[in-house]
Amino acid sequence: MHSDNHEHTMSSFVAPLSAGNMEEMTQQEFDYFSALILQHVGIKLENEKRSMLEMRLYKRLSTLQLRSFRQYMQVLQQDNGSELVAFTNVVTTNKTSFFREQRHFNVLKHDILTQPRTEKTFIWSAACSSGEEAFSLAMQCEAIKSEHPHFDYRILATDVDTQRLEMCARAEYADELREDIPTLFQYQFIEREKRNGNTFTLAEQLKRNIKFRQHNLIHYPEKFGIQFHYIFLRNVLFYFPPSTGEKVVRALVSQLQPGGLFFVGLTESLQHMDVGLELVDVSVYRKPKSGRAVDE
Ligand SMILES: C[S@@+](CC[C@H](N)C(=O)[O-])C[C@H]1O[C@@H](n2cnc3c(N)ncnc32)[C@H](O)[C@@H]1O
Repeated sequence: MHSDNHEHTMSSFVAPLSAGNMEEMTQQEFDYFSALILQHVGIKLENEKRSMLEMRLYKRLSTLQLRSFRQYMQVLQQDNGSELVAFTNVVTTNKTSFFREQRHFNVLKHDILTQPRTEKTFIWSAACSSGEEAFSLAMQCEAIKSEHPHFDYRILATDVDTQRLEMCARAEYADELREDIPTLFQYQFIEREKRNGNTFTLAEQLKRNIKFRQHNLIHYPEKFGIQFHYIFLRNVLFYFPPSTGEKVVRALVSQLQPGGLFFVGLTESLQHMDVGLELVDVSVYRKPKSGRAVDE
């Protein structure tokens, strides 16, 4: 690896920064970055994820015009917090889509219609990524509301990734994502005058009922002061070590109403966790109306 001095004196001769002329990440560097990820967001990166991490951090190095992972390590070590935010944003996996795992939206609708309540229904999309899950929930709720005017709802949508939360606030999405939205909802909830062929923007009507907030799931004691009727924690648990995952679920279950539903991703399961929930559908669990409390 070059010394900093060497890099400095040679800088005018060094080829432009590109993935091809980057040095590979050493084991020591990988250990440093992965420990920071584990400590800050709870995500465990196994060694085989090293090239994925390299590619993601490479973008950040490029932005900061750094020439080695070692230099980036030094930036993080001297950081006052702002680089940690940017680091978090590049290392999280944000894959999502509108009406992902459609079955869960049907389960939600069925539950809302069969358990009518007089009070507002509160839904939490925890780990909401760029907002597709929260907006899909809002569309589903608006459709219910149009047939059952007494139904009212609010959605809290949270994620640790600040860049994704900015995307949520814009509610503007690439046009190719439109086909994931049922045709009727496209007519109802896409702003016609803001469509430009490349992107579309979702209706204000949906935004009014959603609050987007930054929240780190592994900051267990943080509470929102709301007892939710439905919590969606989908496609994030498998990034956590099992003990962290169980603590995250317990912390969220303590904010779920008795009788409320807890959704995880279709490939995820809570069966091995002692969190006091009963399986009621594929990857959907109910908090019993009465029963033993489980420690957080
Ligand atoms: C794969 S996406 C899932 C999005 C959506 N729930 C879905 O199922 O389509 C996982 C999300 O979890 C977020 N995440 C990862 N660790 C987190 C943490 N400790 N606290 C909050 N969000 C986290 C990531 O930023 C990412 O947006």
